[in-house]
Amino acid sequence: MTGENTTRTFGPTGRRVAAIGQGSWRIEESEADSAVAAMRRGLDLGLTHLDTAEMYGSGAAESIIAEAILGRRDEVFLVSKVLPSNASKHGTLAACEKSLARLRTDRLDCYLLHWRGAYPLEETIAAFDRLVRDGKILSWGVSNFDVADIDEVAAIAGAGHPACNQVLYHLQERAIEHAVLPWCQRHGTALVAYTPFGASTSPFDARTAQGKVLEEIAEAHRATARQVALRFLLRHLEVFVIPKASSIAHVAENAGAAGVELSAAELARIDAAFPRGRPRRGLPMI
Ligand SMILES: NC(=O)c1ccc[n+]([C@@H]2O[C@H](COP(=O)([O-])OP(=O)(O)OC[C@H]3O[C@@H](n4cnc5c(N)ncnc54)[C@H](OP(=O)(O)O)[C@@H]3O)[C@@H](O)[C@H]2O)c1
Repeated sequence: MTGENTTRTFGPTGRRVAAIGQGSWRIEESEADSAVAAMRRGLDLGLTHLDTAEMYGSGAAESIIAEAILGRRDEVFLVSKVLPSNASKHGTLAACEKSLARLRTDRLDCYLLHWRGAYPLEETIAAFDRLVRDGKILSWGVSNFDVADIDEVAAIAGAGHPACNQVLYHLQERAIEHAVLPWCQRHGTALVAYTPFGASTSPFDARTAQGKVLEEIAEAHRATARQVALRFLLRHLEVFVIPKASSIAHVAENAGAAGVELSAAELARIDAAFPRGRPRRGLPMI
């Protein structure tokens, strides 16, 4: 297993961050104790990049993460997001304070604008700068930003910003490979892939043509189709994945992806089975 399989440099922050992390959307729908136990096992297995948002369960996901990271804050790269409807200057400052309180911590490692809304980017960025100066966030980024939007952010904030762009990216949705990923590669920005398993389970069903490809490659590595899928997304060193799992078995399987090394021929086979498609207008998002 190479170093880049487990941790990699998170954009301009220079921090080494777990390439495979843990999402938390809808985590509050699981029984709290088992969700916390699963997340803690994930931390044990190196899945220390935790993604949450004030939106998730209206703060409930952040409260569950607070339990999971109790006594372990320094192990974790903790990311939360401000809703666009709160992203005025004062609204962002207030939202961050509330997230910190729910997470029972004094700082976020990265704070994201969840998607672009009506408030001018200058206002949100001014708030992010203030939060950095106050030590409440160590870096900031964006989510669901297409190239024109992220260009605007870079023009306002200057080199080294944003730290990341968190976008929809899975085998059946590769639109970001056309322009957003190249932008991140040119600017040294981290690209965080959300919903890395996609909306459908068909790629993981060996009875489908696509599932058969993943299954055959997985078998050759004594791995699983989901592990192969994560590794395909991680083939670019700028990419991080944040699968959400609420059971120990799922967390362990996802962590196991770090040990899978795909050959160029296997990557090419997956590329052919899950075509990237043509560039489209607009960025796909959930
Ligand atoms: N920025 C944004 O706009 C945005 C949008 C969507 C998501 N996100 C973030 O990205 C994270 C991941 O995306 P997501 O939650 O939409 O989708 P996902 O991580 O691709 O998939 C989650 C689903 O996969 C299942 N799963 C996980 N590991 C599995 C395994 N090894 N075997 C079988 N099933 C497994 C989970 O089940 P169990 O829960 O039963 O384990 C859950 O049903 C979110 O949780 C959130 O933090 C961000």
